[in-house]
Amino acid sequence: MNDVPIMPNEFKGGFNKNCGYTKTSPRKWTEKEITWMNELLKKGYSIKDIATSLNRSEVSVSIKAKRLTKKDGTYNKKHYQEKVKYNYMFLNKIKPKTVLDLYCGENDIYKDYKTTTNDINKNILADYNEDAFKLICKLYYEGKKYDLIDLDPFGSAYDCFDIAIKMAKKGLIITLGELGHKRWKRLDYVETHYDINNLEDFTIQNIVKYIQKIGLRNKKRLIPVFVFEWENIGRVYFEIEELKVTKQWGGEWIMLEEYEELNYQLEKRVGELLDENERLRDLCEKYEEEHRTTFEEWKKAINIINELEKWLRSEIKRLEDIQNPKKGIKPYGEEYNHYTLLIGAYDNALDKLQELKGVDK
Ligand SMILES: C[S@@+](CC[C@H](N)C(=O)[O-])C[C@H]1O[C@@H](n2cnc3c(N)ncnc32)[C@H](O)[C@@H]1O
Repeated sequence: MNDVPIMPNEFKGGFNKNCGYTKTSPRKWTEKEITWMNELLKKGYSIKDIATSLNRSEVSVSIKAKRLTKKDGTYNKKHYQEKVKYNYMFLNKIKPKTVLDLYCGENDIYKDYKTTTNDINKNILADYNEDAFKLICKLYYEGKKYDLIDLDPFGSAYDCFDIAIKMAKKGLIITLGELGHKRWKRLDYVETHYDINNLEDFTIQNIVKYIQKIGLRNKKRLIPVFVFEWENIGRVYFEIEELKVTKQWGGEWIMLEEYEELNYQLEKRVGELLDENERLRDLCEKYEEEHRTTFEEWKKAINIINELEKWLRSEIKRLEDIQNPKKGIKPYGEEYNHYTLLIGAYDNALDKLQELKGVDK
């Protein structure tokens, strides 16, 4: 693996006194340094890469890593048991007939199901030993579908999310190794992948929401049945529903047809408004060239503007009601653009109105 991230200098400990057995004084291991090393190990970096990252010798890293593996055994086991327990409960809930275990590891946890297994590690006995993303692309291309897909990487399986959502029929389990970045106050990854721009927003809930949006884009509703977080890893069990409902506005759902109808109506009204605006602008321009404008034309302009104002006010009121979450949905995305457009047009129309009404005739 290339491009190992270099550990920040402040994670380094001080130097121990030279005991006489080593050529150089050994550097103390700090908690932060150990966690950094564990993260890199989990991501599959080699001892050589990790030594570069930590600015230590390969021997030092290798000895420390071995000691820690022994010490850590029970701790990992506890997490593992928890994972197995939730898996069991989830499987009982969704009762899959077919499973794709894309990062299967050594434990055959879906052995009682018709499972397609994969792990990049060629020493692991699996149906495939491929990179997860490449394999899922191939399976998608072949038109495969699975009741359940499990994405259980050491780091992040982000690249596979979209296709996995497309291919999963009943359930999707995602392990979120990217939560580990929180510990290092690293936002670069979550900024580009989840639109999370500060540490406060860096929560598993926000990541889940983001994944749900990918679901919506695929006309699937992802319902988190279990969400849990260990120290620096999260695992989310989503049940999948094909969408009859489509958008979630502040916790409430509206029907797809209703949303589409609303959007259609709004587009129509915005179109009308823009036409009106166009007419208004023409009339105003005409009026501004005072000498060439008749009194009749001026009256016509004022009438149109009054009508337009009434209509704009009612339309904006309607959108503001919609925006109130208690009443239903919030303008969002396309609809929000229409709303701002209306507000803009309204301000514009009011200015013109005042300008015209302010003129003594
Ligand atoms: C957390 S372990 C999986 C544990 C397993 N699901 C279980 O419950 O026992 C992650 C596995 O992903 C594999 N892996 C790492 N990078 C991969 C990639 N790009 N594609 C497929 N597998 C990968 C590793 O070899 C490792 O076995």
